[in-house]
Amino acid sequence: MARDTDANKRRAALAALELVPSGVTVGVGTGSTVNLFIDALAAIPARVRSAVSSSQASSARLRAAGIAVVDLNELADLALYVDGADEATAARHLIKGGGGALTCEKIIAAAARRFVCIIDDTKMVTTLGRFPLPIEVIPMARALVARQLTARGGRALWRQGFITDNGNHILDVHDLSIADPVALERELNQIAGVVSVGLFAARPADVLLVGTAQGVQTR
Ligand code: 5RP
Repeated sequence: MARDTDANKRRAALAALELVPSGVTVGVGTGSTVNLFIDALAAIPARVRSAVSSSQASSARLRAAGIAVVDLNELADLALYVDGADEATAARHLIKGGGGALTCEKIIAAAARRFVCIIDDTKMVTTLGRFPLPIEVIPMARALVARQLTARGGRALWRQGFITDNGNHILDVHDLSIADPVALERELNQIAGVVSVGLFAARPADVLLVGTAQGVQTR
């Protein structure tokens, strides 16, 4: 079963490669699906000029593949961003942050003209929220934010022992009702101490590539 999931992730990653124009700087996300994308890119490193990376882990993997990693601040424009997700809907709303890189992922998604999301078919849901929603918080605000989430019906669990690349903590929020992802993202962003919310709804994916045993579905 796990091997099927890996094969479907690989199908989606290879399909994303076909959407990368030659010679561009590509935004690169984080996670096991993106690792397969980086590995595919490693076979043709001259295909891209460079990459903007969402995490230290992806930066290391990109550099090992011979791909230069540049600072987003150096770019006037970013044509494409490729990243995975923990859950996705048909509206291309996402939950991200299982790997804890959600803040940089959100920044790169905001900067990119086109956001291509690559997932296997186990990630497709009708309503977001089966996967606990990751929220990055300033460490001193962790308990305060957790109480605010409890007041909204969520059960916020501290991802203990995990520090983000930005030096912050993650709360994984179970049992939230995510009927309106855009409204909830906006609301949770207002809580003092929240750095970023793993809902990608205000800025959804532009293209969703879903790897299945029968091939890749494009949404
Ligand atoms: C990291 C992410 C990842 O895209 C998400 O967790 C999916 O990971 P994987 O491809 O390993 O299933 O948001 O912060």
